[in-house]
Amino acid sequence: MVKDFLFYQPVKIFFGMGKMAVVNDVLESLGIERCVLVCDTFFAAKGQQLMESNSRIVDLFAKVEPNPQLAGANEVAELCRKHNAQAVIGLGGGSSIDTAKFAAAIALGEEEAEVYYHGRKPFPADRLKIIAVPTTAGTGSEVTQVSVMNCGEEKMTINNPVFMPTAAVIDPELMLTVPPRVTMVTGLDALSHALEGYWSVNHQPLTDLYAIEAVRFVLNNLEKAFLDGSDKEARCNMAYAALLAGLAFGQPKTAGSHACSYPLSMDYHLPHGEACAFTMDSFVRINADERLEYLVKQVGLESTDALAEEIIRLKKLGGLRCTLSDLGEVDLDKLAEDCSKQGLMNNNPVKMSVADLRAMFEKLA
Ligand SMILES: NC(=O)c1ccc[n+]([C@@H]2O[C@H](COP(=O)([O-])OP(=O)(O)OC[C@H]3O[C@@H](n4cnc5c(N)ncnc54)[C@H](O)[C@@H]3O)[C@@H](O)[C@H]2O)c1
Ligand SMILES: [Fe+2]
Repeated sequence: MVKDFLFYQPVKIFFGMGKMAVVNDVLESLGIERCVLVCDTFFAAKGQQLMESNSRIVDLFAKVEPNPQLAGANEVAELCRKHNAQAVIGLGGGSSIDTAKFAAAIALGEEEAEVYYHGRKPFPADRLKIIAVPTTAGTGSEVTQVSVMNCGEEKMTINNPVFMPTAAVIDPELMLTVPPRVTMVTGLDALSHALEGYWSVNHQPLTDLYAIEAVRFVLNNLEKAFLDGSDKEARCNMAYAALLAGLAFGQPKTAGSHACSYPLSMDYHLPHGEACAFTMDSFVRINADERLEYLVKQVGLESTDALAEEIIRLKKLGGLRCTLSDLGEVDLDKLAEDCSKQGLMNNNPVKMSVADLRAMFEKLA
């Protein structure tokens, strides 16, 4: 019998090659006359060009860096206040979109970002509209109510309805320039979202469907996009995979691999997707059950072991770090302890003690 669920997905999604051209229509249809564009340095010139050709974009913040700091969100919120903006556009990978989301959430409030980040006050009741334009096929941030921001050394995933984008414009053409390694890292982030959304203790029948299709699209297209970044079909299919994966984990949330990714990113400086991938094949083996067997059969694999081996193959192909020795000197006790403290670990279907986590990492020696 289908179990009870609540599924909510309010984002208006525009998908397709060249869809960037509809951004102005989207702004118009939402009644937005003034908005601020947020992007990273790679897109600074494109951002400038967009602003010059669109009178609704009144200012540009083009300084987002990976592992975005709250200071950027404060600066963007200040620009929004200065121009009395009605919306923020996030053009870029997860770092730019999450900065845009945080700024939109706090712009109408009185406080600095840190106050809301640390939960000292609830987010203001009103926020600006959020238009997400992803340029990587990875985070799915364009359809999630999640913003991942950093405050100094602290990295936190905040899940709050204030971060749900108003619209997502997904144009795979913007992704043709993603370098091979970033393609692999972000593609494995999407795979991790799909698998973790699927095996999360909060999974739902509808999100299961998105997850299976997302895994299928990643397995059929990531290698192609990695080997030939100009392969439009593979880029388009990976953009779709990342979107599906975003829908797959948005409500169930992620589990073990994402929980472990935070200490791995903070202490060993692995980019987000690489940090998730580091333990993904381990969790495939740990979480293997009848449901996962069903998923692997649906995507044309023989067994859960074959899925784990395929993940390892993709990691090696991308030159990603796979073993403990790749991380340098590792404090295993601290790593296992820190991973066990992450809230997302509670979503893993198999409960992991500190000793279990230590044993899992030991196998990666
Ligand atoms: N909000 C969510 O739902 C969610 C989910 C997962 C991860 N995240 C967060 O998102 C962040 C990672 O985002 P990401 O993986 O997209 O990477 P990113 O935004 O940090 O970008 C990675 C690098 O790729 C470059 N880049 C991006 N698009 C490019 C393009 N089209 N061409 C050339 N270079 C390009 C950027 O300049 C940057 O150097 C992390 O902070 C992670 O924790 C958020
Ligand atoms: Fe992720």
